[in-house]
Amino acid sequence: MPNFDLLVRNGAVATAADTFAADVAVKDGRIVALGEDLGNGVHEIDAKGKLVLPGGVEGHCHIEQISSNGVMTADDFYSGTVSAVFGGTTTVIPFAAQQRGESIRQVVENYHACAGPKAVIDYGFHLIISDPTDQVIGQELPALIKDGYTSFKVYMTYDDLRLDDYQMLQVLSAARREGAMVMVHAENHDMIRWLSEKLLDGGHWQPQYHAVSHSRTGEGEAAHRAIALSSLMDQPILVVHVSSEAAMDEIRLAQDKGLKIFAETCPQYLFLTAKDLERDGMDGAMFCCSPPPRDANDQEAMWRGLANGTFAVFSSDHAPYRYDDSGKLNAGPQPTFKQIANGVPGIELRLPLLFSEGVGTGRIDLNRFVALTSTNVAKIYGLHPQKGTIAVGTDADIAIWDPDLEQTIEHAMLHDNVGYTPYNGIKIKGWPTIVLSRGKIVVQNSKLHAERGDGQFLPRSCPEAAKPLGRMVPEMDPAQNFNAELINPVSYTHLTLPTSDLV
Ligand code: URP
Ligand code: ZN
Ligand code: ZN
Repeated sequence: MPNFDLLVRNGAVATAADTFAADVAVKDGRIVALGEDLGNGVHEIDAKGKLVLPGGVEGHCHIEQISSNGVMTADDFYSGTVSAVFGGTTTVIPFAAQQRGESIRQVVENYHACAGPKAVIDYGFHLIISDPTDQVIGQELPALIKDGYTSFKVYMTYDDLRLDDYQMLQVLSAARREGAMVMVHAENHDMIRWLSEKLLDGGHWQPQYHAVSHSRTGEGEAAHRAIALSSLMDQPILVVHVSSEAAMDEIRLAQDKGLKIFAETCPQYLFLTAKDLERDGMDGAMFCCSPPPRDANDQEAMWRGLANGTFAVFSSDHAPYRYDDSGKLNAGPQPTFKQIANGVPGIELRLPLLFSEGVGTGRIDLNRFVALTSTNVAKIYGLHPQKGTIAVGTDADIAIWDPDLEQTIEHAMLHDNVGYTPYNGIKIKGWPTIVLSRGKIVVQNSKLHAERGDGQFLPRSCPEAAKPLGRMVPEMDPAQNFNAELINPVSYTHLTLPTSDLV
């Protein structure tokens, strides 16, 4: 009589900490034992020669969301989650995006109505806050955080989304009070606006000028300012989709000073460059995202940041728009770069690209790969240990990888609804061939074994990562007080005020 529902035998299990040979036993959707000679399963998988990894946790993707220029993403919660799981991701955290004037509670309900009947894997929601009214800050956010929406994104650019510094502080203050993580889209709005106007006035409307208008300087400045706001409030932030060495250096400097600044980069900043926006005709539109891909030097910097821990998470920022009049060319066949919906697809290739070019070349090791794509994401967004690792008691969300499978990327092998991939033609080695969600086989033999609506909503806890440093240094020796303002930006040796008095 088998004692487990499922036994994964003979694989090499890797977590963010270790790689070890073990069988993995699953019962009632959870991992119940790791070890040798565990007994039998009703179902068994022989993982000899394979890697047994935690399923990926995708912390940044846009699904069934309307872009800032009013275009609906190509993927809904069915195609988006199917595509994710074929690429080894078993949990997604897309956004419930507030448009100005909307109640966030209502927005969240609308996204639930879309996701519930369609998602094939588990999901949570970050909130996008574009209108931090007193009602939102004082009533809605605290209630939503208690209901498990424990992270939100704010924008420093885009006309309809951006917050000014005062509003950013309001949001950071609410996050501090309630224990939520704030994700920041850091680009200097007025620099983008000024450069865009000059470029368009000069007749430079083609896709490649998108990259020119979103400067590295503007990204670096906004990252610096976001860090300053975070430091003043003593509230951690996560800077999303970092593309440039300029922004990465600001983040690294803050981390070196002991501030809790987390950061994310994405495949487009490793595999694409601004040159891709110069492709024939309007083809560059397929590569327009914000911030834009940069150059080989910035790519190398991103790899360095992944290897040395500057980046805690690696996300796709899947923002899928078809290359036709429903998406990228929604404003007509020859839109200006300002009229092109921002974003690139990547939810299915996120893990295989990093595995192949990161682990396969020795730039990062397997354990860092797991940390960047799964464990850290789960920790930073309040899903750990239920998600993001392989341990007794966790959900049995597992991706079994064939590390030797070689393929050349083409859109036909993917499961999104986008119609193209920006990574076409890249050769990769390694792919997750069997994927389990809560102990159930969801992908095997290139086939989907899941139904619409199988995914469950995940209310998230307040992450440890979002806790303030609690800086309060009452009697500092001025001689040693070389950086008092950094340690507690609102205190001096003669006047000490707990930051908590201000929030
Ligand atoms: O270009 C991008 N990244 N589009 C998606 C929205 C965002 O800012 O992440
Ligand atoms: Zn963004
Ligand atoms: Zn995004």
